[in-house]
Amino acid sequence: MTKDILVAGNWKSNKTLSQAEDFFRVFSEKIKGESLPQNLTAVVFPSLIHLEKARFLINDYRLPLKLGAQNLSARQEGAFTGEVAASQLSDLVEYILIGHSERRKNYAEDDEILAQKSDRAIEAGLKIIYCVSDKNDRVPDGVDIVAYEPVWAIGTGKAATAQEAEETASAIKSKHPKVSRILYGGSVNPDNIVEFLKMPTIGGVLPGKTSLDPDQFFRMLKNAAE
Ligand code: PGA
Repeated sequence: MTKDILVAGNWKSNKTLSQAEDFFRVFSEKIKGESLPQNLTAVVFPSLIHLEKARFLINDYRLPLKLGAQNLSARQEGAFTGEVAASQLSDLVEYILIGHSERRKNYAEDDEILAQKSDRAIEAGLKIIYCVSDKNDRVPDGVDIVAYEPVWAIGTGKAATAQEAEETASAIKSKHPKVSRILYGGSVNPDNIVEFLKMPTIGGVLPGKTSLDPDQFFRMLKNAAE
């Protein structure tokens, strides 16, 4: 495929340190020092505690992978026990996930908190992947990449059809013309990835479960590259 594509693997709250290390080792055996086509960017989002090791292994194995974080503090650095500030993350990662439906639902993150998190990420120069589950969801100013993820398709094995995803992606794009890229997420796998990427408004995908497995993640990249 010739257009620019982003494949972003959201590991969620999965993998011990040794399982995370295994992922990079096995992935490096699959990719065998090859690079990805220039138009294809691959990002993985491990747990915060594994980011530093992930960065080390990506460099050590010379993997064509970028790093992202799944969460950040809505506040700046300071006396906020347990929080990780955007300025701390920007040492380690290029991308940040904000607005995932699991955080909206389980941690009561509303539009106000998500806007604060987006502001912190922008101040720190992080690239935001801002998740929405509906075309009418709010998107904060300054967000560059939006991921459309219908809640019923997340973790269910039942992806939206490529046409449904394209319709919503194009509605989001017309509402937010400054957003440069729209991803689709929700049960993306090596078999259906290409259908989504063929759609004119969809510039990438956000797989969860299938990104945990180095073989499936590699196959998604391989199919996306063709
Ligand atoms: P899934 O998750 O691929 O496991 O459906 C996607 C996501 O939640 O980002």
